[in-house]
Amino acid sequence: MSRFDPSNAIQDFLVFGEFGDVNPSITDSSTFTFMTPDRMEELFDHEIEGCFLYSRHWNPTNKFLSDALARMEDSEAAQAKASGMAAISSTIVQLCDSGDEIISSRTIYGGTYALFKNFLPRFGITTRFTDLADLDRVRSLITDKTRVIYCESMSNPLLEVADIPALADLCKDRGIKLVVDNTFSPMILSPIRLGADIVVHSLTKYINGTSDCVAGAVCASDEFIHKLTDINSGASMLLGAVLDSTRAASILKICTHCI
Ligand SMILES: Cc1ncc(COP(=O)(O)O)c(C=O)c1O
Repeated sequence: MSRFDPSNAIQDFLVFGEFGDVNPSITDSSTFTFMTPDRMEELFDHEIEGCFLYSRHWNPTNKFLSDALARMEDSEAAQAKASGMAAISSTIVQLCDSGDEIISSRTIYGGTYALFKNFLPRFGITTRFTDLADLDRVRSLITDKTRVIYCESMSNPLLEVADIPALADLCKDRGIKLVVDNTFSPMILSPIRLGADIVVHSLTKYINGTSDCVAGAVCASDEFIHKLTDINSGASMLLGAVLDSTRAASILKICTHCI
């Protein structure tokens, strides 16, 4: 595996404002102008580089932060979200339909545990909690309904470290996605390079690092981020928990200048 340094990847991400400003300009608009209706219709069909429709879909400032986070996690793409829980819940509902199952570590952040245990069953999505270090036990819990194996790279609060390559092996060829919450170990662990399919973050914690906001992110393949933001069927677009651009700009400054 080639050497990867997340801090270099982020520092090499150079984006400028419209007057060459060292920080990119903040797009302080919910909506965008189209000079022709055709262009707008085209954007409904597929994304067009540098062209924006509505800030719940994409916004240039959110895109800058998302691109920086994709670099940090070495993922093809990313999307900044309104909170860590928004990142987790939109990812899970994008992946699971009613009747589907999740296998989750039993030691995860309390809010995620409550989402899986108390909330998702209302929509027919059930979770089996287990010790993910016991790979035989995990294997025995996999059914043809299993869509997701979920863990935290380093768990909150017990700091259990997940064996991401071994879990990725279990997911492979079974159509199961390995979703890893990397909130506790950004820059230290790169789950996608270890075989995870999707990384979620609470930016509220170490990445923003100044306890002045709530934010999150999903880092994944281009295909998955397109699914999340799809105008007709994307959980981000339709549930709407996206980040405000002014906050995206302040987190981006920390990411690019302080990490
Ligand atoms: C590991 C982990 N994931 C997710 C979350 C949820 O993040 P947020 O509070 O930004 O919604 C937290 C919050 O403490 C967390 O510790």
